[in-house]
Amino acid sequence: MRKGQFLVIDGIDGSGKSTEILLLKNELSKIGADTLFTDEPGGTPKAEEIRKALLGKNSTPSTPSTDFFLFWAARASHVEQAIIPAFRAGRNVISDRFDSSTFAFQVCAEKHLELEDLFYECRKAILSECIPDAYIFLDLPVSEAIARRESDSTKAMDSFDKKGSEYHERVRDGFKKFKPGGKSKVFLVDASRAPEEVHKEVWSIVQKILR
Ligand code: TYD
Repeated sequence: MRKGQFLVIDGIDGSGKSTEILLLKNELSKIGADTLFTDEPGGTPKAEEIRKALLGKNSTPSTPSTDFFLFWAARASHVEQAIIPAFRAGRNVISDRFDSSTFAFQVCAEKHLELEDLFYECRKAILSECIPDAYIFLDLPVSEAIARRESDSTKAMDSFDKKGSEYHERVRDGFKKFKPGGKSKVFLVDASRAPEEVHKEVWSIVQKILR
């Protein structure tokens, strides 16, 4: 039985995850909660190599099923080489994106619904003891998320950001369709509000989940 709790924050591109995670980090550092903050794709040297293949400037054109397996390959390293060691050390883990993103982007938005069963098989095989206790999905209309991304000159657009609004509508629906089952809780948070408002709700959820 692991002692630490595992929380995932996810949402469409432009949903404000980075801001919310920063606010959460400040809050948790004040109370001294020992938490590994990590993000996907990445979190280990091997997963970062795979990230470059997926999202790097020089990455070559891909296909949704190639991406599906690459995201899972990166996640296997993330789980085995970063998340499990953190739990063994008694820490909590908060991940910026996790398997919910593969479901929303590669299965739902790409309309590869034949990958759905395989998705849940990968989940069983790769996550095993690393099933998140809770997922927080930051939800807002796609048009607002696109406007936010366009006004943020600090963030370079990757190949997923550049897909059209219909694609991102399917990503948004994908998060709503994602059913982790078991003991995992899902919270849908209205992210169209001001960051501090969103933070209040996120923080009250996190306080209930993390001990
Ligand atoms: P990233 O630069 O990490 O930024 P952010 O999480 O702030 O959007 O972008 C990761 C991109 O990869 C993002 O567009 C979502 C996509 N992605 C998938 O398509 N599938 C996945 O399983 C994951 C983890 C990410």
